[in-house]
Amino acid sequence: MAFPESFLQELKLRNDITDVVSSYVNLKRRGRNMVGLCPFHGEKTPSFNIYTENGSFYCFGCGTGGDVITFIMRIENLDYLDAVKFLAQRAGLELPEDSYDDSMSRLRLKIFEANREAARFYYDSLYQSSGKQGLDYLHGRALSDKTIRRFGLGFADDSWSSLCSHLRSKGFSDSELVAANLAVKHKNGNGIYDRFRNRVMFPIIDIRGNVIAFGGRIMADEKPKYLNTSDTPVFKKSTNLFSLNNAKNSGSRTLILCEGYMDVIAVNQAGFANAVATLGTALTAEQAMLMKRYADEVIICYDADEAGQKATARAISILRNSGLSVRVVNIPNGKDPDEFIRSHGSDGPAAFRAVIENCGNDIEYRLSKLKKQFNTEITDGKIAYLEEAAKIVSAISSPIEQDIYASRLSSELGIEKEAFLRQVKKLDRKNQRELRSKQMRKIRSDLNGTTDRINTEHRKQPRSSSAEEALVVHMINNPDSANEIANLLTADKFSNSLIKRYYVYFLNRIQSGLEPLTNISADFTGDEISKLYQLINRYSRVTSTPQAMREYIDVILDEDSKLTEDKISSMSPQELSEYIARLKKNKQ
Ligand code: UTP
Ligand code: MN
Repeated sequence: MAFPESFLQELKLRNDITDVVSSYVNLKRRGRNMVGLCPFHGEKTPSFNIYTENGSFYCFGCGTGGDVITFIMRIENLDYLDAVKFLAQRAGLELPEDSYDDSMSRLRLKIFEANREAARFYYDSLYQSSGKQGLDYLHGRALSDKTIRRFGLGFADDSWSSLCSHLRSKGFSDSELVAANLAVKHKNGNGIYDRFRNRVMFPIIDIRGNVIAFGGRIMADEKPKYLNTSDTPVFKKSTNLFSLNNAKNSGSRTLILCEGYMDVIAVNQAGFANAVATLGTALTAEQAMLMKRYADEVIICYDADEAGQKATARAISILRNSGLSVRVVNIPNGKDPDEFIRSHGSDGPAAFRAVIENCGNDIEYRLSKLKKQFNTEITDGKIAYLEEAAKIVSAISSPIEQDIYASRLSSELGIEKEAFLRQVKKLDRKNQRELRSKQMRKIRSDLNGTTDRINTEHRKQPRSSSAEEALVVHMINNPDSANEIANLLTADKFSNSLIKRYYVYFLNRIQSGLEPLTNISADFTGDEISKLYQLINRYSRVTSTPQAMREYIDVILDEDSKLTEDKISSMSPQELSEYIARLKKNKQ
């Protein structure tokens, strides 16, 4: 499966990386490059770089890098083929026919269709006699028919085969239904059965309007309470949010983050279309970055129980790290948002609006939780509370904001504001020192490769690996040198298997007369591409000369011969004689 080179070249030419990235990231010029805040991890100072000269990007913060195709794969959550299609469409290019294997892409489309058909089937079932239980259940939870339709809720009956028969009659194959996780294979290998049975169904819809998965709730007090679609070719639960499709069109730059499906739906029915929920997992950084694309502020509205409060503390730091402002709702009487709204009957929407409008930000939330742990009536309790409070306040980056909390705390507890601020400044300096030494540690470990997860062999053979890395980058930047390198060195002299793969790949491209970097996305994993661009970017900063190139080769050959000496000294007599026989044979 490969697109013609000429097509990929045209595709890249017509999709200038700066243009493409600017529709997702605010870019500013810095020297020859463009920089911005990385869309793949949370940060406050820009470390996301666009290199216009070779059409690539690289983030120094999280180590993600690649070309324009890799960028679209990551930001739009698409596979290689769909990313190419996306860019072709953007530039008004026709895809060359028969040049690629689109079986995965076709399967994904089939799964979307099967899911949509299943959602329709579940919804229709609600309004048939067999689905009465489901409809009664939803009505019993105070959902109106309008809300049920808006969310496309439905019912899966208890028959084990209703959905499968229906979808088969619509032309879907058993293997497609299994791939969509709508059906499950029998253990004995004979046939398939419906995955969701006797549950009310919640379709999960992505921002493009595709039905990507389902959650199904059992109506009795049984476990599991909710059953969700497992990860499929179109669904990964850690990167999606329930009801983001509604929330993104709500016209608000604030999102209300709830714990459950029913909370989001009840909050919607109360007049807030901007509610979302994670899908039965703790909030991930990827989900926070997804929210950041549609919002500036998130109101955390988790359950009032202990688990909910723990999850709140975690979510605050993930959301803050993504550059979102955070507010936290404290729902009275230990309820979740759905129960709270329902308990107020027809006043539910107004009561909930009041809670949302009066909720404090994350700092106020943390200070008030903290205060409950101390008896501030007595001096010792007051001191202990203020010392902990100073830690929270010192983590705020804006001095004006720090000043506001210092004023509040000083009048609340009858202390001198300046004394509190001095404590904050002391901690500030300590935080700064810690941050700097953390950064230094990271730079050091990046340089010697001790924590490199992708290029793991670097650490074992740092000298040869460094020379191999520099040589590959030299060859990519100076394709004319490829033949000379190949004459001086064969690929088996490489000590590092990842760098060897890069070498063989790029040498082959160059010797076939191809531009080295036009087409890499299809041949390496996302992490391997990021690593490659990290190396290109690191070693390109010093201009590499032909002299340097020969030095890299000398180091590689030198390390290779040492390696052989090591090997020989540890050989058994038998291995040694085989080795000598092989050498002789090679000489002939
Ligand atoms: P909760 O247990 O708080 O349920 O789970 P809930 O949202 O209040 O649901 P109701 O009101 O009893 O119907 C919160 C979320 O965690 C996930 C679901 O996404 C649920 O909405 N969850 C919970 C599961 O995925 N599986 C489970 O078995 C339970
Ligand atoms: Mn609930």
